[in-house]
Amino acid sequence: MTQLHARHELMYGDVKLFAGTACPDLAQDIARHLDLELCGREIIEFPNENLFVKLHKSVRGQDCYVIQTTSAPVHRNLMELLILIQTLRLDSAARITAVIPYLCYARSDKKDQPRVPITARLVADMIEIAGADRYITMDLHAGQIQGFFSIPGDVMTAFHILMDYLKSIRSTLHDPVVVTADLGFAKKGRNFAAGLNAPMAFIEKRRIANDSKAEALTVIGDIRDHDVVLVDDEVSTGGSMAQAVELLKNAGACKVYMVFVHAALTESGAKRLAALPVEKFVITDTIPIPPAYRDGFGERLVVLTVADLLGEVICRANQGRSVGEMFGE
Ligand code: R5P
Repeated sequence: MTQLHARHELMYGDVKLFAGTACPDLAQDIARHLDLELCGREIIEFPNENLFVKLHKSVRGQDCYVIQTTSAPVHRNLMELLILIQTLRLDSAARITAVIPYLCYARSDKKDQPRVPITARLVADMIEIAGADRYITMDLHAGQIQGFFSIPGDVMTAFHILMDYLKSIRSTLHDPVVVTADLGFAKKGRNFAAGLNAPMAFIEKRRIANDSKAEALTVIGDIRDHDVVLVDDEVSTGGSMAQAVELLKNAGACKVYMVFVHAALTESGAKRLAALPVEKFVITDTIPIPPAYRDGFGERLVVLTVADLLGEVICRANQGRSVGEMFGE
């Protein structure tokens, strides 16, 4: 990262990395990639649950990045992010970038029934109002959520990271078929299929209520006697994936490999997944998995880090260099 020191001063001042409390390990790994330390700050919760933030040093004129994923506890983590951003703004940071590996409320992105909110838009507004100049996030549930922000952003994908792993085990897979856990992920699933040079199938799923319960209806495509690479963007209760695996097994699938980006798992969701007849669970660290949740997965859990990717994006953002260039775009 020698270039960082050579060029960043010309662009936006020193990079200052701050982290909330949501993903400390990922934040440390990003800092390590950049050969920097996380900046000192205090985050205190008062008895009335109000949060208080204090920076240890001035950030006047600096290029500041707040690393905070917005997984559970969602509202606490979101408020930490907003308050950190406002604190930096009030201390006259030159530029503030919200680095949000997992953006909460992304599933609430449209009015698909009367009298409901579009909470993803509200979250985007709050991040801007708090004082962010830019944002960096990963694998948004729907790409159109970018349009809820009027500040520029870098929306990255873990696709290449997941794909590299899948390619490394490709020779062990028996006639693999890539299956998307719902039709909404079909387009992204196609990229996985192309990367593995494998055919595709889909699970048609229909939400039947607003209470996290889903019904997996049918498999579209041929999976009998094939190994299956089951892909999705996020898993929470594990309900969709459990139904998908049952459906696939009943339809004659051989081994199932489950791949998803955001492990937004509940405790019971983790237990439900661990009990499934799945060979490997390939995920990323956009959301930390509490140690207790790992019980039952054993060697089957493969957690790939997005730290280097996010670190590189921060480096390039600071230097005013293209991010697309990283992918030959
Ligand atoms: C939904 O559209 C998403 O792609 C996931 O399928 C969903 O978030 C999974 O939720 P759960 O694990 O609670 O079924």
